[in-house]
Parts: sequence; structure tokens; C-alpha cells
Amino acid sequence: MEDKKIIIAIDGHSSTGKSTVAKQLAKKLGYIYVDTGAMYRAVSLYAMRNGYINEDYFDIEKLEENLINIDLQFMINPKTGLAEVLLNEENIENEIRTLAVSRYVSKIAAVSKVRKKLVEQQQKMGINKGIVMDGRDIGTVVFPNAELKLFMTATAKDRAERRFLELKERGEEVTYEDVLKNVVNRDHIDSTRKDSPLRKASDAIKIDNSNLTLQEQFDQILKLVKKITVLNS
Ligand code: DC
Repeated sequence: MEDKKIIIAIDGHSSTGKSTVAKQLAKKLGYIYVDTGAMYRAVSLYAMRNGYINEDYFDIEKLEENLINIDLQFMINPKTGLAEVLLNEENIENEIRTLAVSRYVSKIAAVSKVRKKLVEQQQKMGINKGIVMDGRDIGTVVFPNAELKLFMTATAKDRAERRFLELKERGEEVTYEDVLKNVVNRDHIDSTRKDSPLRKASDAIKIDNSNLTLQEQFDQILKLVKKITVLNS
């Protein structure tokens, strides 16, 4: 009998490799992968481009009024086979990965009206199951009934090192100290915001990958998936 499709919710701190493992799982299982952080990043880019937010200014009302003008879609890149985010039909996959966007995204993600719009869209994407979604509130708010919930974490130092190398590889001029500061700052804002703060769902399985290789982590998680899909079939 074919295994029944499930929903896999992956939450955790920033730069814990959630998207890496989510992509591996989606590929292995033939599931859809949705990076919800990309959606919050896309809204941030929109706000930055329109001058609603900068270092010492954030016009929340203007952003809220204009949410209706923000259309987000995912499109598969035929070269990589991975979904990339479109903001009003423009592919902004590269622009949203910069440290500049990372600096504002937690403030944008704390706005309830932004969350409401994106959560509704995310829930629609999961209607047919067979989905791996990563973010901060997937197991707690978006899919509280997900069959498998993971909560990923690692030390801030490990995470900043990984993110620093990733940004360097993309050609960004950044310092390790700035990346570490951003990781710590985002953890703080994401975990202390009023609406859907980052926290582990009580039924999520915690994975600290500070000392795990990617392969070890993937094998460990795949075992959990197998156990659940067999139980569900
Ligand atoms: O996963 P990421 O680092 O690309 O996410 C960017 C930011 O978006 C993160 O700092 C918090 C926010 N976010 C959120 O609040 N809820 C989600 N489901 C996903 C991301």
C-alpha cells in the first residue's frame, strides 16, 4: 500500500539549516517544499523598496494598507527543481537573501496583518498534504495538526558561521560579527513578539544539529518520517 501523504512542519531558530533538510526531505518523498521565511522576506523587500522601513523608521500603517498590492507566488526553477518566490510576478529569489533584508524581516514578521495574510496562503498550500514547510510558527499556528513536527536548533555561534559562509559564497561583503549580531537579534525579536512567537510546539521533536553532519541529521529525520507514514497508511 502506498504511504499516505503527511504534513511535515519544521520550525526553529534562524540559520539552523531548516531549509536544507526540508529540501532534502521534499526531494526524497516527492513532496512540495515551502519556505515561508521567503514570503516574509519578500514582504520586507516590498516595504524597503517603497520606503516604508529603514534603519530608524517603520510606517506599519502604510505597509498594512498596501498588503492588498502584494502578490506572492512560488515558481519552480527548472534548473534546480526548487520553488522560487515571485513578488508581483518578479523573481526576487536573490534579493531576499541579503543581509539588508535579514535586518528588517523580523520587524515585518511581527506585524499581525502581515502574518494573517501569509498564514492563510500557507494553509491553502497544505490542503492536499504531501508538503514540507519550514518557518517559525508552522507547527504551532499554520498546521497545528501536522503529522510530524520538528524543532531545529544549534548554538548561535555555529549558526552564524554557517550563514557567514553562505553569504560570502554569494559574494556579499559581510563580517562574521555582523552576521552573529543579526542571528542573535532575530532570535530575540522572533521569540518575543506578541503574535505567534517562535516556540517549540509541545509535540515537536527537538533536533540540535550543532554536532550533526547533514547526512546524520537527514538519516535521523527520515527514520521519523518513515515511522509516521507507515502508521498513517
Ligand atoms: O527562515 P528565514 O530566516 O528566511 O526567515 C526570515 C524571518 O521571517 C525570520 O527572522 C522570522 C520570520 N518568519 C516568521 O516569522 N515566520 C515564519 N513562518 C517564517 C519566517
